[in-house]
Amino acid sequence: MIIRKSNQEIEGMARAGELVAETIALLGEHLQPGITTGELDGIAEEFIRDHGAVPTSKGYRGYPAATCISPNAMVVHGIPGEHRVEEGDLISVDVGITLDGLVADSAYTYAVGDVDDETARLVDVAKQALEAGIAQAQAGNRVGDISHAIQVVVEGAGFSVVRSLVGHGVGRSYHEEPQIPNFGDPGRGPLLQTGMTLAIEPMITAGGPDVYLHDDEWSISTTDASMAAHFEHTVAIQDGAPRVLTRAKTPAKAGLLP
Ligand code: MF3
Ligand code: CO
Repeated sequence: MIIRKSNQEIEGMARAGELVAETIALLGEHLQPGITTGELDGIAEEFIRDHGAVPTSKGYRGYPAATCISPNAMVVHGIPGEHRVEEGDLISVDVGITLDGLVADSAYTYAVGDVDDETARLVDVAKQALEAGIAQAQAGNRVGDISHAIQVVVEGAGFSVVRSLVGHGVGRSYHEEPQIPNFGDPGRGPLLQTGMTLAIEPMITAGGPDVYLHDDEWSISTTDASMAAHFEHTVAIQDGAPRVLTRAKTPAKAGLLP
């Protein structure tokens, strides 16, 4: 069952979403060569709790940290720790926040300093794929319209969509129905309606689509060690049209942006 939210709930999710966007921007400001992903996680957790909110990931199915931070070939669910950020890294950060019982979820891939052209293009395409997916989040469309729009952008650019990981409904909890694959056929799948709140999140690779689970039972990386990028927004369908609830009000600091 897909839970449709009231306008009041969507406003609450927007408040959580604003905090998510601010947290991701804060991580961008601190994302300098030499810092560890564990230190970044600590900065995020303090900021979230200082704002009266809770990092949704912490304790979620036993997950040990406040954020997911996934470098380079790691696609998602990287556990922050000893990895020291280096110039040329791609660092994907994924932040879920619960505020007054409502959840928003967003991810962003930062390029640290200069990255090679193909890597920069990967990040750009992932971002474009997310925007193409969001544009399809209209009442009367179907989930497959979102999926297909993402797939066309990614594969049209010569990159791959990770097929074993999906976006999802979000709001009263972290993961709700429907699942939102990043590939599929237009006009198929659940009907989109006003009040639905969706975490749309293309996870893409510069090489093939296959991934593996690390021994920590969380981190997921590309099998071929190719670079990965991940962008995610929480989107409400309001008055039939998409409203992004996790858009940053202020841009992350320049210089490190892809
Ligand atoms: N934020 C992730 C998502 O987009 C969920 C991470 S679950 C965690 O679905 F436990 F790994 F944090
Ligand atoms: Co998500």
